Amino acid sequence: MSDNVRPASLERITTPELAKAFIEEQIAALRAQIGDKRVLLALSGGVDSSVVAALLIRAVGKQLVCVHVNHGLLRKGEPEQVIQVFRNELGAELIYVDAVDRFLDKLAGVADPETKRKIIGKEFIEVFAEEARKLDGIEFLAQGTIYPDILESGPVKSHHNVGGLPEDLKFELVEPVKFLYKDEVRVVGKALGLPDGMVYRQPFPGPGLGVRCVGAITRDRLEAVRESDAILREEFAKAGLEGKVWQYFTVVPDFKSTGITDGQRTFEWPAIIRAINTVDAVTAEVAELPFSLVKKIVARITAEVKGVNRVLWDVTPKPSATIEYE
Ligand code: XMP
Repeated sequence: MSDNVRPASLERITTPELAKAFIEEQIAALRAQIGDKRVLLALSGGVDSSVVAALLIRAVGKQLVCVHVNHGLLRKGEPEQVIQVFRNELGAELIYVDAVDRFLDKLAGVADPETKRKIIGKEFIEVFAEEARKLDGIEFLAQGTIYPDILESGPVKSHHNVGGLPEDLKFELVEPVKFLYKDEVRVVGKALGLPDGMVYRQPFPGPGLGVRCVGAITRDRLEAVRESDAILREEFAKAGLEGKVWQYFTVVPDFKSTGITDGQRTFEWPAIIRAINTVDAVTAEVAELPFSLVKKIVARITAEVKGVNRVLWDVTPKPSATIEYE
C-alpha cells in the first residue's frame, strides 16, 4: 500500500472520543518518529498548521520550533492570536518574524495577479529558509498537509503551491494529519482545545489580503481591505452567520469614485462585499444575506474605514466569477 493512501483502519473522525483516540495514537507516532530531535513548522494560524502545532506541542514540547511569518497580508488580529494561543497559552517555542516591510516593498507597483502571487510565495520561502538556517539541530519539517491536498481534488491548495525549500534545507517530513479531511481536522482541533475562532476559520488564501487589494498593493488601500474585512466578520458573527456562510470577505479595487460626507465632496475607493456558499469551491453560490445586515455593514464601513466612500455587493456566482478577485 502506498504511503499516500488513507489506511482502511482509520475510522472517520466525527466525535470527540474518536478525536482523542487519534490524538493519543499520533502523539505516540510522533514521539517514535522524532525522538529527541528538533522539528520546524511554518505556523500560519490556519486550522491545518494550528492542529499540527498543537499535536506536536503535546508530543515533543519544546523540540518543536514554530515560525510565524507576518507578511503584512494577514487579517486584523491574526498575528496577535497566533502569539497569544501558541506562545502564551500553549507555551510553544515560537519565532515571530515581522516581514511586513520586506513583502510590501517587493510588491510595490506590481499589478499583475500571477506576479503578485509568485513574489509572495517566493519571499515566504526565503524568509522561512533564513529563519531555518539560524537554528541548530533541526532534522524534521512538519506540515499541515491534509488528505485533499494529496488527492489534489480541490483547486484550493493546488494553485498556491509555492515549491519546496532550497537544497541546503532538506528535512524529513512530519505530516500527522495527512490522511484527514478538513472536517476531521476541525474535530481534532476542537479536542486539542484550540479556540473556535481558529478551528472553524473560513478558508483564507496563502497570498492573504494581497489578492483582495486588487492591482498594485498600497499600504493605505491594504489597510482599507483589512479594516473593512474586520467589520464584515464582526457583523457576520453578531448576526450568527459565523460557520454558516462558507466564505465572506471584502475586496478593495484600485479605482475611486465621487461621494459626499458631511457636505464635503470625496473621491475614494469602494469596498466590495463577497459572501458565498459552496461545497468544494469549484462552483459557488452567492449567500442570500438579510438586507438589514447588508445596510448595517455599509453604514459601518463607510463611516469607519478610511478612504472608502461606497460599498458594493458582489452577487455573481462562480462561474462566471471566481470566489477571489485575483
Ligand atoms: P477561486 O478564487 O479560485 O478560489 O474561486 C477558490 C477557493 O480557493 C481559495 N484560494 C486559495 N487558497 N491559497 C489557498 O490556500 C491560494 O493561493 C488561494 N487562492 C484562492 C479561495 O479563497 C477560495 O476559497
